[in-house]
Amino acid sequence: MISGKEFRKQLGVHRWAYGVLWRVNRFYTLGLILCGFLAGMTPVLLFMSLRGLIDDQLSNQGKGVQNWLFLLMWVGIAEAVVGLAHKLFRNLLRERALVEINELILRRSLLRPVSFFEQSKSVNQLEKIKSNSAERLVELVGRNSQIIASLIQIVTISVMLARIEPLILVVVPPCFLPYLWFQLRLGSKMSEDIQERAKDRRRIGYFVGLLTLPQSVAETRLLGISDHLISQFRAALSTKRDEEAQKDFKQFIGGSLFSILCTILFVGLIYRMLMRPGGATVGLGSIVFFAASSIRLRKSLEDATHSLAAIADHQVYAASLKQFIDGKDDETPIAKTPLETADGIRTETTEQAASFRSEICFENVSFRYDGQEHLALSDVSFTIHPGETIAIVGENGSGKSTLVKLIAGIYKPESGTIRIDGRSLADHDMDDLYQKIAFVFQDFGRYNVTLLENVAYGNWAKYSKESEADLVAELQPSIARVGLEKELTKMPKGLQTVLGRTFGEYEPSGGVWQKIALARAFAKKAPILIMDEPSSAIDARAEFELFGRISDLSEGRTTVLISHRFSTVSMATRIFVIDRGRLVEEGTHADLMKLNGRYAMLYNYHKKLHGEGGVND
Ligand SMILES: Nc1ncnc2c1ncn2[C@@H]1O[C@H](COP(=O)(O)OP(=O)(O)OP(=O)(O)O)[C@@H](O)[C@H]1O
Ligand SMILES: [Mg+2]
Repeated sequence: MISGKEFRKQLGVHRWAYGVLWRVNRFYTLGLILCGFLAGMTPVLLFMSLRGLIDDQLSNQGKGVQNWLFLLMWVGIAEAVVGLAHKLFRNLLRERALVEINELILRRSLLRPVSFFEQSKSVNQLEKIKSNSAERLVELVGRNSQIIASLIQIVTISVMLARIEPLILVVVPPCFLPYLWFQLRLGSKMSEDIQERAKDRRRIGYFVGLLTLPQSVAETRLLGISDHLISQFRAALSTKRDEEAQKDFKQFIGGSLFSILCTILFVGLIYRMLMRPGGATVGLGSIVFFAASSIRLRKSLEDATHSLAAIADHQVYAASLKQFIDGKDDETPIAKTPLETADGIRTETTEQAASFRSEICFENVSFRYDGQEHLALSDVSFTIHPGETIAIVGENGSGKSTLVKLIAGIYKPESGTIRIDGRSLADHDMDDLYQKIAFVFQDFGRYNVTLLENVAYGNWAKYSKESEADLVAELQPSIARVGLEKELTKMPKGLQTVLGRTFGEYEPSGGVWQKIALARAFAKKAPILIMDEPSSAIDARAEFELFGRISDLSEGRTTVLISHRFSTVSMATRIFVIDRGRLVEEGTHADLMKLNGRYAMLYNYHKKLHGEGGVND
């Protein structure tokens, strides 16, 4: 049995579901509820008119038959129309809810910190709510109205039947209650497994993706692991299939036992009615009524139990959706609501923009990824002055990308303070800060839109409002600067070519994608420029043209650049060396070479590998 608190919580989920759908469309929600009530009333009226019709025909020589026929016709029409209307309202509401609720999910996602999407618990929660949550909300409300209909039918039919044979009230509960308990237990077992099912679905989707998505299909074939992946996919799907089959089988056995028992008992009662002294006085209409109604009663009892079991399932999804939308899961507090003006685009005063000093200061900053034991950054302190160009070097996994993501406020430090423009990150409005930072991620986005849009995404709030001609004029310098002009001549529609394999007309090479990402960052014209290995896929000549003169690159901006290319690194104003999450050395190339520490060691390895020409000594 569930506790009172749990019951109140479940009731809250139902109330919330009605509220959401009411806001989506009042008319359809009301229609769905009303249809439930009406559907509950029709069966008993149908059987009553049938009984009246037969009894009148036999005893009153057909007097009043027209009235019963008239009622029968209207009730028959009502039953059919109400059934169809219920389906119509459910479908219409589902279509509306699909758009509204999914948009709400996406908008709520925007308020979550990036770390939320990296935790497997939240990924499972998201998987759960993304899997048909709109449909499940509508189903929850639809099932509620079905239960109402079934309950009305159960009560009205039982009362009518009991007037003919009171024993029915004694025989039905002992059959029905164990069946109800069985179905609810089955439902709650399925609800417990929902978390596991979400994980299974993700695994299945993952294997399908590896075998069918363009970015992985060539490699998996070449590695010869396609068969292995198919067997993994099969295993994940088989577990799911076996569990579903087990549940279906149990439901079949339980349902059959209940139906057999009920039918035998009802037939027994009819036999008893006929055989008891004076049984002949029972009208034929009543016997037909009893037979038809008792079968309908069994069906209503079955419907009510199925609906209850289905509600237990839908309720778990609805509760997850509610929790996500309300943001009441303590572990993932919702970030500040974005500051939006009436037209949805953030603006700032020129005064605010002009007074911004792009100084970055770390004070004893430590950071740990969620669920990890070791610190990714440990007690890091430094100050980057406005206009400086800082290069960060360090071995793989030393914490370079983590550090620059902390500068951009993507993660919050576990301890210590990060100040930008003299103010702690916590005091910044993150959306305003994002406007001040252009960031080329190590794993940058390859957007399947036109080349022009790919670059304009650098400052979409501004560029989306401009005409195409203005946009081209404004973005052309950034496109030319990263050396994309030659590539443009190969694209079928020039700047308007849709890129990418998914929807595109042209697939740029890896290096060209990286140049596009750089053009996007330059197009932002932000006072802080962060680049995480921006030349890893770019050829030597393009790299020289792009990064050859570091002053050209920074153009007076504060620039933070992660690179394994010492030719670029050595030109920076200062170099930070990161080792196992700690800032171990700091200074100019000459300072660090003189120090003969970690930087000198990495530099010498690089020199040995690439020769003198590979580095700018
Ligand atoms: N999202 C994450 N969740 C958990 N741990 C992470 C995550 N991202 C990185 N790490 C861990 O944090 C540490 C630092 O990673 P980071 O990506 O900052 O290294 P890096 O210096 O940029 O390496 P590379 O040169 O390979 O890009 C590593 O131990 C890595 O395994
Ligand atoms: Mg990195």
